Amino acid sequence: MFRKKESNNHQELDMNRIPKHIAIIMDGNGRWAQKRHLPRIAGHKRGMETVKTITKAASQLGVKVLSLYAFSTENWKRPEEEVSYLMSLPGKFFNSFVPELIANNVQVNVMGEIDRLPKATQEVVNQAIQDTADCDGMVLNFALNYGSRREMVLATRKIAKAVQSGKVEIDEIDADLFSKSLMTGKFGANADPELLIRTSGEQRISNFLLWQIAYSELSFTDELWPDFSADSLKQAIYQFQNRDRRFGGIKTNK
Ligand code: IPE
Ligand code: IPE
Ligand code: MG
Repeated sequence: MFRKKESNNHQELDMNRIPKHIAIIMDGNGRWAQKRHLPRIAGHKRGMETVKTITKAASQLGVKVLSLYAFSTENWKRPEEEVSYLMSLPGKFFNSFVPELIANNVQVNVMGEIDRLPKATQEVVNQAIQDTADCDGMVLNFALNYGSRREMVLATRKIAKAVQSGKVEIDEIDADLFSKSLMTGKFGANADPELLIRTSGEQRISNFLLWQIAYSELSFTDELWPDFSADSLKQAIYQFQNRDRRFGGIKTNK
C-alpha cells in the first residue's frame, strides 16, 4: 500500500537543498479582513504577525535571503487612509520585533526608494538597518516603495553614468554588471531568488524582481497572507525540492 507523503513535514525536506533566496509576494491581507467584515487595515496588521512567523521559520531553515514585497510603487494608488496605515507598519513591526531579529541573527535590508517614504518611516527603517547591521545570519530584505521597472531604470542610469565618466566601456555592459547594479546586487551569489511564492491565488508578478526571477521556481498558493504559516513555507520548499530545474539544459539523472 502506498503511504501518502507528508509533504509539509519538516523531516521530509532536504536540509542541504533549502533555497538560499526566497522571495514572497505577500498578498491577500485585504480579502482576509473583508471575509471577516473587518477594515482592510486589520488584514495588514494580521499580515505583519505572519511576517514575524515566516521570518523566524525561514531563518531557522537556513535561508540566506528572504525578500518580502511589502509596498509596491503602484500601491500609492490606494486610499490615503490605507497608505498611511501601511507606512506606519514598519514602525510597529520593528519596535516590537528588532530584539527577536537580533536574537535570531537576522539582518534587515530595505530595497526601494526609501527617500520617498514619509520621514518617520525612513527613520524607523534606517534605525532597524543600523540595529541589525552586525547580524550575519539571514538577510530580511523588505521591498518598500519598490517596483522592478523603476529598479531597472535606476540601474540603467547608474551604468550610463559610469560609461559617461569613463569608468565602464560600453562593451563591458553585460548581464553580470546589470545584476550588480540592481538593488539586489549586494547579495552577490544570492541576488536571484531560487523560489518565488505568491499567496492569495493571484498568478502574476506585479512588478516584483522581474530580472531576478528569470529562472526562479514559482509557487502560487490560494492561502491569504495572514493565513500563511511555517508549514505553508515548508510545503512550498518541498514543492521546490521536487521540481526539475533545467536552466535550458536537459534532464540529468542525479
Ligand atoms: C497585500 O495585501 C499587502 C499589500 C499589497 C500592501 P492586499 O492589501 O493587496 O490584499 P488584497 O489583495 O486586497 O486582498
Ligand atoms: C503586490 O500586491 C504588491 C505587494 C504585495 C506589496 P498587489 O495587491 O498590490 O498586486 P495587484 O494589484 O493584485 O497586482
Ligand atoms: Mg493584493
